Amino acid sequence: MLKQELETLRERALAAVNGAPDTASLENARISLLGKKGELTAILKQMGTLSPEERPVMGALANEVRADIESALEKASAVMSERELAKRLEDEAIDVTLPGTPFRAGRRHPMQLVLDDVVKIFLGMGFSVAEGPEVETTYYCFDALNTGPDHPARDPQDTFYFDADTILRTQTSSVQIRVMEQSKPPIRIISPGKCYRKDEVDATHSAHFHQIEGLAVDKGLTMADLKGALQTMMTGLYGEGVKLRFRPHHFPYTEPSAEVDLQCFECKGAGCRMCKGEGWIEMLGSGMVHPAVLERCGIDSEVYSGFAFGVGIERLTLMRYKINDLRLLFENDARFLKQF
Ligand code: DAH
Repeated sequence: MLKQELETLRERALAAVNGAPDTASLENARISLLGKKGELTAILKQMGTLSPEERPVMGALANEVRADIESALEKASAVMSERELAKRLEDEAIDVTLPGTPFRAGRRHPMQLVLDDVVKIFLGMGFSVAEGPEVETTYYCFDALNTGPDHPARDPQDTFYFDADTILRTQTSSVQIRVMEQSKPPIRIISPGKCYRKDEVDATHSAHFHQIEGLAVDKGLTMADLKGALQTMMTGLYGEGVKLRFRPHHFPYTEPSAEVDLQCFECKGAGCRMCKGEGWIEMLGSGMVHPAVLERCGIDSEVYSGFAFGVGIERLTLMRYKINDLRLLFENDARFLKQF
């Protein structure tokens, strides 16, 4: 009778195990068949009712049934996990032939392109890049540049003040002073950066703009060195054959001072719309560093001389790409920017 029960259990168990649809039902089958409260345990509990002769025979049979069920479970579970892995691999497969999501790469701003070129050109002449703060003291921005509180040249630049002594710098010339205070000649630096002035925005003006300052201090520097450096910069930016014109001017911190014009490359100096009939386009301010400025920074003006210049990056960029409105540089219109 017990033998019969064991045989039936084996039959049903093997059928259940082999027919289990997934690992969860396989596990359920294992528990209900072989678990502590499972069917085999229930049958074994009846062993006590057997005669001493029958007991070892039934015991052996019970072990055989358990072994059969266990090996069926093992086999089924191996088959099943293999099948489930195969299915997951199929479900999670990636079709590498599908087109990807387009990635629109950004690019450098036209002013950055020009600045990068200018930096490269000056690095080639032995200059390095110096930086100074945008929030500046009136001392570095004006006084140290021979432009005291009552100087008329200060008027148009008397602009964004935080307090009586602190402003948004109006020119990168302030960096000249900071560099000369901190280093000994020979000095050769350029200093690009943002500047701010009270200006109405139009096609050629902005209250926020960019300059590159240049400064060289050494024994025996002359206007010829200034001209050579600027000619090298302009040739590097605009190509062979660009012509510069140095026009006498006044800046408080240079003596002599010159404004530098570029011959219009549209009309080669004849006069056209681009240069407003002038034949020349004003590009930058420059000069030989004023002895008083050198002395104020602890540099002996009897031994050393220097040249300096300041140029607007916007102006360089408009010329380079023949752009007629400065506002295009600041509006962040992708249709404009993607052309460079
Ligand atoms: N700081 C002047 C400006 O903003 C430009 C300039 C002129 C810079 C002469 C210089 C210089 O270094 O020597 O218009």
